[in-house]
Amino acid sequence: MKTISDIKSARNTVQNWKKDGYTIGLVPTMGFLHDGHASLIEKAVKENDKVVVSIFVNPIQFAPNEDFDKYPRDLQKDSDLCKKLGADLIFAPTANEMYPSKIYTKVDVQSLGDNLCGAKRQGHFSGVCTVVSKLFNIIKPDKAYFGQKDAQQLAIVKKMVEDLNFDIEIVPCKIIREPSGLAMSSRNAYLTDLQKNSALIISKSLNEALKSLKFGEQNVGKIKNIIEQKIKSEPLAKIDYIEIVDLQSLEPVTKIQNDILVAVAVFIGKTRLIDNFVFKMERE
Ligand code: PAJ
Repeated sequence: MKTISDIKSARNTVQNWKKDGYTIGLVPTMGFLHDGHASLIEKAVKENDKVVVSIFVNPIQFAPNEDFDKYPRDLQKDSDLCKKLGADLIFAPTANEMYPSKIYTKVDVQSLGDNLCGAKRQGHFSGVCTVVSKLFNIIKPDKAYFGQKDAQQLAIVKKMVEDLNFDIEIVPCKIIREPSGLAMSSRNAYLTDLQKNSALIISKSLNEALKSLKFGEQNVGKIKNIIEQKIKSEPLAKIDYIEIVDLQSLEPVTKIQNDILVAVAVFIGKTRLIDNFVFKMERE
């Protein structure tokens, strides 16, 4: 497995693979890899001849008040894991390599990015779409792997690929959780043991909501209330949002008629964690 930090060499490597007829899978990440990322890489290794894992903490998707500087990084450990999982190339550019001068072009997926995390993190999804487009243009993969953990990001990237005719298949991957139920995240590294324990309230609250939906509850307010009350029972947790949206449009719903996404963002101390589930309506 190679690690490359410049765009030209990454392009050359992939172009040579393509000339030899190999298919290419790309797993875009910001590093500090955990089992959630590993599940994407494993899937990519199964489905492609060559797998590129990009590791880049993308400055333009962080707002000035966010955690860009202290975002956890460990390239050596990440590289050991990628090697073990059978990846072929780590593309780990510097910020200067990706953004050598002021950028005038950004990719913005309208409306899908307006609520949920988009409403709370101004400019975030434009930063994500811009860097993902750049990675797609540099690596030109056949398939790219994204986690359902970031459900809004997945929906936006899918729409971007459709709207801009990227010839790339977006492969969604299910959320990987710790045995406790906590969704895996690089940001879990910020949590003390006590905070980690408090963070369990997030998946527990979503489980209760799912149970009530399965019992036939259709009142959106009531479902949100179940989640809210549960999270509020945990003193260290502060709700950022609880949203129930249409899975396609990501618009808030008042009635549960189609497939929905139930998504939450919760602060545990200063750490903002997100989690969600999809509820599919059974149709005859
Ligand atoms: P990052 O947070 O490192 O996540 C990289 C990929 O791993 C994303 O597709 C994310 O949804 C997926 N992932 C994270 N935790 C997961 C879990 N517990 N289960 C399954 N998949 C999980 O998302 C980003 O980086 C960036 O925004 C990026 C797309 C790389 C653009 O900079």
